[in-house]
Amino acid sequence: MRRWALIMGASGDIGTSVARQLGAQGWSLYLHYHRNATQATALAAELAAAYPQQDFLPLAYDLTDPDHLDQVVAQLFGLDAVVFAAGMTTYHLFKDSTVPELTDLMRVHLLTPMALLARLQDKLAQSGTGRVVFIGSVYGGSGSAMEVAYSAVKGGQSAFVHAYAKEVASLGITVNVVAPGAVATKMNAMFDAPALAAVRAEIPAGRFAEPGDVGYYVRMLLAPEAAYLTGQTLYVTGGWLQ
Ligand SMILES: NC(=O)c1ccc[n+]([C@@H]2O[C@H](COP(=O)([O-])OP(=O)(O)OC[C@H]3O[C@@H](n4cnc5c(N)ncnc54)[C@H](OP(=O)(O)O)[C@@H]3O)[C@@H](O)[C@H]2O)c1
Repeated sequence: MRRWALIMGASGDIGTSVARQLGAQGWSLYLHYHRNATQATALAAELAAAYPQQDFLPLAYDLTDPDHLDQVVAQLFGLDAVVFAAGMTTYHLFKDSTVPELTDLMRVHLLTPMALLARLQDKLAQSGTGRVVFIGSVYGGSGSAMEVAYSAVKGGQSAFVHAYAKEVASLGITVNVVAPGAVATKMNAMFDAPALAAVRAEIPAGRFAEPGDVGYYVRMLLAPEAAYLTGQTLYVTGGWLQ
């Protein structure tokens, strides 16, 4: 039977890797993007050519907007899994934060995903093996100076899955966080080479994660056999920080 996953942030580097891994596993995918329609459309075409028996549908939405989610839900038919791989950060002292910036961080990482899940729960329950995975962050556990608000919303994702998992376990739905350390993606493009080298020097594994290192655990958590792990945060950090 066809299994459908919604990947929020499929146009991002981690989301694209998740999409490629799930496509190879036989999933049909809703490929969410915000601004990068080119990447989402190209990814859909790439996957449709590789797996012609499956469906790959781009879907646009701005997660800073929690008010028009019915438009997203109306585009979804069956749904077996949701992966939240969208996100952004800001880098400065917390005392320089603004309310609009804090609002956007909270909406993109927490508020809108939670509001979306409330609408999708019945569909995921109908699946019998519903799966929810957030791409969190090691900073949600360890905290980081200069990314205090980001750390807070990432910790919020872990707190959310911890609680929500208890409410939906009897419906066959698992809810988890995969929390990477430093991943080689465009999200880190704001840092120069010496700053990236300083982080790399702290990572016991001696390198940044590749997006595929993260996608692997998402793929594992979405497997039907992964029915008994829920409410957890899996730290995928090469031994860094946690
Ligand atoms: N890279 C790391 O070192 C690292 C470490 C720990 C955790 N993470 C987390 O991993 C997730 C993916 O990050 P990444 O490294 O793959 O970053 P990325 O390549 O920059 O991708 C970011 C994704 O988020 C989407 N997005 C950004 N703002 C949005 C908005 N307002 N509404 C809807 N979608 C929005 C982007 O959509 P468009 O491009 O279409 O606009 C894109 O799909 C994030 O949650 C991030 O916090 C990353």
